Amino acid sequence: MRIILGVTGGIAAYKAADLARLLIRDGHEVQAVLTPSAEEFVRPVTFAALTGRKVLTSLFEPSAAIEHIDVAQSNDLLLVAPATADILAEFAHGLAGGFLSTLYLAFRGPVILAPAMNTNMWEHEATRTNLETLRKRGHVIVEPAVGMLACGTFGAGRLAENDAILEAVRRTIDPAVRDLEGETILITAGPTQEPIDPVRFISNRSSGKMGYALAQAALDRGAKVILVSGPVSLDPPRGAETIHVRTASEMRGAVLSHLKPATVVVKCAAVADFRPAAPAKQKIKKQGKPVSLELEPVGDILAELGRIRGDRLLVGFAAETNDVLEYAQWKLNEKNCDMVVANRVGVEGSGFESDTNEILMVMRGGEVVEVPRAPKREIADRILGQIIRLRQTAGVAR
Ligand code: PMT
Repeated sequence: MRIILGVTGGIAAYKAADLARLLIRDGHEVQAVLTPSAEEFVRPVTFAALTGRKVLTSLFEPSAAIEHIDVAQSNDLLLVAPATADILAEFAHGLAGGFLSTLYLAFRGPVILAPAMNTNMWEHEATRTNLETLRKRGHVIVEPAVGMLACGTFGAGRLAENDAILEAVRRTIDPAVRDLEGETILITAGPTQEPIDPVRFISNRSSGKMGYALAQAALDRGAKVILVSGPVSLDPPRGAETIHVRTASEMRGAVLSHLKPATVVVKCAAVADFRPAAPAKQKIKKQGKPVSLELEPVGDILAELGRIRGDRLLVGFAAETNDVLEYAQWKLNEKNCDMVVANRVGVEGSGFESDTNEILMVMRGGEVVEVPRAPKREIADRILGQIIRLRQTAGVAR
């Protein structure tokens, strides 16, 4: 594959040199294009040495009159990393003032953008609108990570790690890539129901959509999938071994008895934290006066898995209404997970029941990756991509 690597002017530009090397290692030909501001951070000679090609920087070099057209026509994919707020705006609005933005307009292949900038710039309405425009055009956005930025602030805006960018390249080239072949993923999904009496129960609003999307995505990517599902109204994905359970205790039993072959466990189910201490054997009759229910705590399946996990990858979820990052970090340590996927609940478009979700993926090493609102299937693919990254950095520090 012939890839144009556009590098724009940000402190993360130095990371693009290693990205060029990794793309070449993956068998691609790389044509680097540096904007003038990128040249303030990195030298073209570095990219020339790594790619074995002349680096393109200006529309006004003697030989460059129609070079942007040639380059656009003779390459298969345009990747810009890091992509500044400025280049996103130029691309979104079709401005063609520089070599890279002109090339963008002339280019007809897939475009991948890996933004990096200060958090306020990333969160600014203008940037969000530009990103929305670029997404609608079908471009892939590799979301920046959350972390300490060069400007000294903490937040979203740090260039995604190179392996996340490489994964986006691989999946753009071949969306059917079976990169989970050899893995057996045990996924829990849906709610649990804790009986009050034979006809009533305590439950929650989980629809199973997130867990089922994970199961389908994992199957599509070649994994063997064991799905332990609470009561939902979804059809189990074809090809998954599905075990239907009702209560938290049944879910625990099913998880433990299917744990042996699992190389990865993803605990997406919304499991009860409390259950009626003594469910009535017969239907509780109305008596026109208040009824009290004594609730007892339910053992935490994920925490138990954290103790017996062996060398499996363990991914938990955290459903939070507030202080999402802090609670997710706490659950990660408390339950000995490699990653916790935190989603905000109680807001429209995220968490329970909705077709979309927005998450923070919190890693044991401290890295946090934010994925803005997207269909649950897309979110599932991002989670699986992150699992593959954890697998690649294997040994997974614990
Ligand atoms: O099913 P959907 O409608 O698509 O909604 C998706 C979802 C919101 C349910 C899902 O994205 C999600 O957040 N799942 C976890 C819900 C939850 O129980 O979160 P928690 O923060 O209470 O629990 C933290 C973790 O501990 C979870 O991985 C949970 O599975 C696990 N847990 C909790 C209690 C318990 N008794 N045993 C557990 O294993």
